[in-house]
Amino acid sequence: MNMVDIIQKKKEGKALSPEEIKWFIEGYVKGDIPDYQASALLMAVCLKGMDEEETFCLTDAMRYSGDTIDLSPIKGVKVDKHSTGGVGDKTTLIVAPLAAACGVPVAKMSGRGLGFTGGTVDKLESIPGFRTSLKPEDFLSQVNNIGISVIGQTAHITPADKKLYALRDVTATVDSFGLIASSIMSKKLAAGSDAIVLDVKVGDGAFMENRHDAAALARLMVKIGNKAGRRTVAAITEMGQPLGNAVGNSIEVIEAIETLKGKGPEDITRLAVKLSGIMVYLGGKAASPEAGAAMTEKALKDGSGLAKFREFVEAQGGNPDVITDYGLFPQHSLKMELKAEESGYIHKIEARRIGLASQHTGAGRATKEDTIDLSAGIFVCKKTGDRVQKDQTLAIFYGNDSAKLKNALNEAAKAFVIEKEPAEKPELIKEIIGLNEQ
Ligand code: URA
Repeated sequence: MNMVDIIQKKKEGKALSPEEIKWFIEGYVKGDIPDYQASALLMAVCLKGMDEEETFCLTDAMRYSGDTIDLSPIKGVKVDKHSTGGVGDKTTLIVAPLAAACGVPVAKMSGRGLGFTGGTVDKLESIPGFRTSLKPEDFLSQVNNIGISVIGQTAHITPADKKLYALRDVTATVDSFGLIASSIMSKKLAAGSDAIVLDVKVGDGAFMENRHDAAALARLMVKIGNKAGRRTVAAITEMGQPLGNAVGNSIEVIEAIETLKGKGPEDITRLAVKLSGIMVYLGGKAASPEAGAAMTEKALKDGSGLAKFREFVEAQGGNPDVITDYGLFPQHSLKMELKAEESGYIHKIEARRIGLASQHTGAGRATKEDTIDLSAGIFVCKKTGDRVQKDQTLAIFYGNDSAKLKNALNEAAKAFVIEKEPAEKPELIKEIIGLNEQ
């Protein structure tokens, strides 16, 4: 086999064989295939697409390009949850303890944030002492003991995806359905859970900006998961405005704790109950997603979700007192406010701009090497559809560098669209895909 023939074949729009895909992935991981040839193939894939069979093969080749996790020592049906990434998306911090409180083991690997969406691992590390790196045996025994563990992805999982994702990032080849689906699903399948709930975000703060594309991506990922024998369900959810009010690291953890105390924003609470309800159903603890949602709502109300969060934080070395004393989180020294210049109704809060603004506060990374300010971030005080008076606060900026905060405030000011006529609130949960498939 040779790489020039494979690139030529894809350039002509022909389907690659399973052997060709496997040969490419193995050769690329070993370093036998140079970046310039891999880039040419990625671009041909972006322009000509891949059929389902090719996408399944690529997922499989990437899944087995490194270590895979064997979760069989953990009792019960393990259910994973993944978000395609959004601004203010702290859902994992809420759904994981809620599902675990309802008896579903959650053994989850999460990523760090890059760009304008934060990663769960960064958020968890804002809890003093919290360890996101555990020995495999400790990870498994923690889930067996308390039903939950969330750690960072190890370097040895899906190395092909790591290498290819970095290349896609710098060659304008991220936005291909097949490449995104295989990238996400190779990691989820390698991580070993029995069932997967995907939260596919749609809107200007997400990879998929329209509902049609989000549903197409979701259907493809559901097919990949089910074909691999992992029951997979996807929710298509709103990312045209930030989720909840907090965008950053420690401030998102605080909002997640508030939500587990039953005092969280309406949107994040509703989404968390819905997603964890599906997890409880897929985990075999409820007869339907609705019955699952009733169980997780109860776990929210009776405090068992919060108690599970406490156990989880403590088990991973974090200081559980953060739950009652938010002063134990890293502290910001500066605060600025963005005021409304006119009265009216909020028609839009562009999530992408708020995400960028949050990165400017110091809460996000522009490059992998950047360090982040765990105390920095933005509290968005209003949501789309809300009425606002001139001079009312639209958003509060936290951090430790006034130039950075001013920069963030200027960016965020462009995110708010205020008009005289009333505006509709966007639909939060748009569609669930895969509930009737096996
Ligand atoms: N997230 C991933 O893990 N991979 C992609 O290609 C896009 C989003």
